[in-house]
Formats: sequence, C-alpha cells, structure tokens
Amino acid sequence: MSIKAAMETVLVVGATGNIGVSAVTAALRSQRNVLAIVRNQNSADKLVKHIGSSKGITFTEADVLSDTGVRSVVDQVRAGKLPAFQHVFASVGGEYVTTPLQEITTERLRRNFNTSFEANFFAYRDSIGYLLEQKNPKSTWTICTGSQGDIGTHPLPAMTQGPLFSMATAAARENEKTNVRFNEIYLCYRVEVDSDAEAHGVTKASDFASVYEMVLDNQDVRSSRVRVENDKEDLVKLKYAKKY
Ligand SMILES: NC(=O)c1ccc[n+]([C@@H]2O[C@H](COP(=O)([O-])OP(=O)(O)OC[C@H]3O[C@@H](n4cnc5c(N)ncnc54)[C@H](OP(=O)(O)O)[C@@H]3O)[C@@H](O)[C@H]2O)c1
Repeated sequence: MSIKAAMETVLVVGATGNIGVSAVTAALRSQRNVLAIVRNQNSADKLVKHIGSSKGITFTEADVLSDTGVRSVVDQVRAGKLPAFQHVFASVGGEYVTTPLQEITTERLRRNFNTSFEANFFAYRDSIGYLLEQKNPKSTWTICTGSQGDIGTHPLPAMTQGPLFSMATAAARENEKTNVRFNEIYLCYRVEVDSDAEAHGVTKASDFASVYEMVLDNQDVRSSRVRVENDKEDLVKLKYAKKY
C-alpha cells in the first residue's frame, strides 16, 4: 500500500473556529488529511489563513445547523465524491458571552442551542454509523466541551455545554466496545486562533492542538473525559478518566 493510500482523514465539524483550527492543526501535524465542513467560501478562506496553507484539506460546504447538513456530507463520502474519513472531531459553537439569564431572549436561546448543542448532536448521529461500518480499529470520535458547563460564569455557553456532557457520556457508553474510541476533551481555559490569542493573552490554538494529537494516537484513551486544566503539563501528557 502506498503511503498516500494509508493516510487517514479527519472530518472536522466546526473547523473554522478557535477549537476547530486547533483540530485541523493536530490532524495535519500528525500526517493526516482533513475533510472540513464549512458554511461558505469566506469561512474556508479564514481557515486557510489561520493554517497558512490549504495543503491536505478538502473543503465541502454544508449547513451543519440543519439536520441534513452532516448527513449530506457523509452521503457524498459513501458515494465516493468526497474522501473517506476515519476520525471525526466536532466543535460547533455559538456565542461566548456573559449575558445574564433574564436577558436571554427565546430566539437567542434557541439559536445557541441549535449551534452549540444540536449541530454537535447531528454531527455524531449522522457520522458514527459510517465509522462503525468501516470497522477501522483506529477510528476515533472526539468532542470539545468545557468547564463553562460546570461553572456557569457565561450562561449561554454554559447551558449548551450541560447537554453535551450527557451526550458525550451516552456516546462513550455506546462505543465502549466498538471500533471507535469516543472521547470528550474538557477544556478549562480560553483557547483562540493564534493571532487572536496573542492579542488577548490566552492560549494559542496551535499549542492546544497537541491534546488532540495525543487523543488520536493514544489507543488507551477510550470513552473518557480528557481534562485540560493548565497550559503546561496538560498539553504534553493527557489527563483522562472514564466518563462513567
Ligand atoms: N475556545 C475555547 O477556549 C473553548 C473552551 C472550552 C470549550 N469550548 C467549546 O468549543 C466549541 C467551539 O468553540 P470555539 O471557540 O472554537 O468557537 P468559535 O471560534 O466561535 O467557532 C465556532 C464554529 O462553529 C461554526 N458556526 C457558528 N455558527 C454557525 C452557523 N450559524 N452556521 C455554521 N457554522 C457556524 C463557526 O463557523 P464560522 O467560522 O463559519 O463562523 C466555527 O466553525 C464551543 O462549543 C465552546 O463552548 C471552547
């Protein structure tokens, strides 16, 4: 088998965000290709700007907020129109704001649940079957959540993370004995794309990328929550425990 044929591909949902850019960086740095779902050409251009190149990335446009978006991408993979993938990473996200609960309108609440919860649920529901069918023993499915779901200083992102914790526990159980290692990365501090991180004094996406690289390569990390609590030792050694 040629080196190219053996190369793995990561489907990244939310690829153009702070955490998504980090996942794309991790995949490329570990000699994997990326299938990035983007909403439009502007978002694709933004990702290329953050990564510095489009080498190794296949872009496909879909609305990941709709319940047919990820499904349509997987259908195209099955039809051989897009590259096969062995891993999925999801981090679609809404607003990161401190708006108090009583000021959150119904429309805004629903929009944020659609973006931060439903889109990640659709991504799981509509891609896991494909990974199970492929039976690749190296497959993984990874989601990024964070401590907001517990500490609640930012009510909107906090409330959408709560159900993601539950979804991740259910998915961890469902895949305990399958070919897919399902894991949740629980991030406890702020990560931003490198240019913004420098301006705001927070952790760079390219540094946080080491966590997903380790998840991809460590066969022992399964059905676990990977805690990332500091930007030193937790970026060089995984701290993980079974979710249940
Ligand atoms: N950043 C952190 O430090 C941190 C820490 C803990 C947990 N998390 C969690 O990780 C997730 C992502 O965070 P992030 O910082 O990467 O967020 P982000 O930079 O705002 O990125 C959000 C991603 O979702 C996509 N998206 C948002 N609204 C969309 C829409 N209407 N249609 C299509 N795509 C849409 C964005 O696409 P576009 O680029 O096209 O807008 C982007 O790819 C969130 O759930 C967050 O709670 C983040």
